Amino acid sequence: MLLVINFGAQYCHLISRRIRDLGVYSEILPYNASLKEIEKMKPEGIILSGGPSSVYEKNAPISKKGILGLGIPILGICYGQQLIGKQLGGKVIPNKIKEYGKKIIGIKNKNKLFKGLKNKETVWMSHGDAVEELPKGFVTLASTDTCKNAAIGNFEKNIYGVQFHPEVTHTPKGNQILKNFVFDICKAKKDFNIKDLAKQLVKDIKKEVGNNHVIMGTSGGVDSTVAATLINKAIGRKLHGIFIDHGLIRKNEIEEVKKNYNKLNLNIKYVDASEIFISKLKGITDPEQKRKIIANTFIEVFDAEAKLLEEKYKKIKFLAQGTIYPDRIESAQPSKEADKIKSHHNVVLPKRMKLKVIEPLKDFYKDGVRKLGKELKIPNELINRHPFPGPGLAVRVLGEVTLERIRIVQEADHIFILELKKNKLYDKVWQAFAVLLPVKTVGVMGDARTYENIISLRAVTSLDAMTADWAKLPYEFLEKVSNRIINEVKGVNRVVYDISQKPPATIEYE
Ligand code: XMP
Repeated sequence: MLLVINFGAQYCHLISRRIRDLGVYSEILPYNASLKEIEKMKPEGIILSGGPSSVYEKNAPISKKGILGLGIPILGICYGQQLIGKQLGGKVIPNKIKEYGKKIIGIKNKNKLFKGLKNKETVWMSHGDAVEELPKGFVTLASTDTCKNAAIGNFEKNIYGVQFHPEVTHTPKGNQILKNFVFDICKAKKDFNIKDLAKQLVKDIKKEVGNNHVIMGTSGGVDSTVAATLINKAIGRKLHGIFIDHGLIRKNEIEEVKKNYNKLNLNIKYVDASEIFISKLKGITDPEQKRKIIANTFIEVFDAEAKLLEEKYKKIKFLAQGTIYPDRIESAQPSKEADKIKSHHNVVLPKRMKLKVIEPLKDFYKDGVRKLGKELKIPNELINRHPFPGPGLAVRVLGEVTLERIRIVQEADHIFILELKKNKLYDKVWQAFAVLLPVKTVGVMGDARTYENIISLRAVTSLDAMTADWAKLPYEFLEKVSNRIINEVKGVNRVVYDISQKPPATIEYE
């Protein structure tokens, strides 16, 4: 197994996931884990993650120095490399130029870590500090035009460091680098797969739940459907799904969800609570406030339904959730060191909740969930559905959420998605949707002045939503969608296409 030490990086879990994808088991420990804990796991290699701190700051997370002397191969990523630099006697300082985004590294030294790479490769950087002076025994493996030590290594001790992020897809050869580290340097064996994992998850649920009943909010999306199917396999009709329609769903969504759940033979109750949600959102424009109101209302409605079920089935002891890993990291739950980005609504629980929570997918990324879904024989159409955020269209109607503004976004989104499917582009993008901007602009229609809304179209490619690139959709396609929206959706006179990457932008707008 490979151990990943977490220094509060957004991408820490992604590193572990990449290792598992290579067929090698991996786990994460916090930076302050003891040497005893680390040695107990018998890792074949250790990866020190990135993190938002500077190694020379007063309260920076510093791992036990002894880790570097265990004789186990080590790879430090970003902050991890800087920590190696500092702890072994080198010098880390703020880099003259902060590097964010795509950079080219020139490889100075052919070695095991860079096997299969060309002399120049694109990498993804995100750092303000750099190792200025190398510790004894280390050499520079790669540089960029503004970062001398973009990669370092001590071959004798098998300790390596990279300033860039090999775990994100923006580093095209990143996976090759991790593969080199895992198999060539750590000599790990490939002995971990999804089939065993699915069986293990069902077994774990059976063991945990026993004879009790489970309730669960099911949204019709991939995550909650895969989680519900796993639980269904473990306990059958003792799983009680509740679908809450908050009125912020896409056009025709209820019918589609019902059709899919019937196919999977899931035990679901449908609750129309749209009026309550819309009335509570009246006059609210702040994104975090919207998210909080929706989360709280969701809990109230869910709670009322849960009480009815609890009266009927005395043995309801568990609440299941389809939470996946990015939901947790973006809400900054796994570690105090990660910065909070957004409150993802499915992780906030009522304070008085007496039920025990089970989250069978809490360590998964979306592509892992999809692989698991395939393994569980969930129809492709459902597995390949684009993700939809818990707070629904409320975070795509920027500004106040009203029935009329929801209608505009629903109509525009429907056209965009239909056209993507018709042109066989839907499965090529990670996620696509329409957003209603909170500004109006002037236009002209049939000689008359208009003063109407702007729809922004967002389509991104991604592997796991942690990073994303805007999808390079064909111009003719965008033109067709734009024309259709402006002609067919009342209240829209302008359509724009979003060309921002995540980071620094996020996929959703709020
Ligand atoms: P961002 O906007 O943070 O989104 O780049 C990353 C992915 O997460 C989805 N998303 C959510 N999913 N509850 C969810 O279940 C939420 O509150 C939420 N907010 C964003 C988003 O659609 C994207 O796929």
